[in-house]
Amino acid sequence: MLASLPPNLSYQRPKGEQLQEILEGFIANLDPGTRLPSERVLAERYGVARATVTQAIDELAGKGLVYRVHGSGTFVAEPKFRQPQTLTSFTEDMLARGMTPGSIVLAREVAPASAVIARHLQVAHETAVVQIERVRTANGEPMALERSYLPASRFPGLEEADLTDVSLYTLLAERWGVRVAAADQWASAVRLTEEEAEILGVDAEQPALLFQRVTHDPSGNIIEYVRSFYRGDRYEVHHRLERIEQAPPPAAGS
Ligand code: GLP
Repeated sequence: MLASLPPNLSYQRPKGEQLQEILEGFIANLDPGTRLPSERVLAERYGVARATVTQAIDELAGKGLVYRVHGSGTFVAEPKFRQPQTLTSFTEDMLARGMTPGSIVLAREVAPASAVIARHLQVAHETAVVQIERVRTANGEPMALERSYLPASRFPGLEEADLTDVSLYTLLAERWGVRVAAADQWASAVRLTEEEAEILGVDAEQPALLFQRVTHDPSGNIIEYVRSFYRGDRYEVHHRLERIEQAPPPAAGS
């Protein structure tokens, strides 16, 4: 395995930076779960301090490319999940990847909408809203923490429904005949609170991706506002960008 690593570092650039690039290229060709050469071996091979290797690997772990197992070494991580660009549910996303979706319900209640929630749902301040907090899992592993807000008048009794390992979208369709048709979604990088990080089983320092979604039914009525905190080490956002040719600038002097 070591033979496929470049033999040495150049003197031109910081060693840690080069090492990180080398390892990134190296692990891109390895299967998930493959163990990397030990930090000692890498330090010897590149003639750098052990701390330089540790730091390079820390950076890769922070990017979710590798993970450490105490006492066993560092391993290549699974490729990141891509957020689809179509309107799908978490359940559909996981099933499409051949994984088993799951949900642990942390809270469900009817409460008056705060100003922010009311604005997103386009209802009056303090309108009754069903609030559901769930940990979403893939093959039992926590992937996201999701807080959903739905107008209580539209979904009477929803707060009593057991959403453990159940798709909310399926339930809305089966019980209330409501289909999701379109959504606006925003993604941003956020810090998790200590508690959120613990629920997701990640370091509190690690950034997460916050997806906010406002979903409409086929008539354009808003049916949910959701804040989903996805693990930054397991998720990435992919956009396909098509070039729209720009009109050439007017010629000088014209
Ligand atoms: C995703 C979206 C949420 C949506 C959920 C529904 O996770 N980010 O906005 O509420 O899917 O998923 P399910 O039907 O599996 O409960």
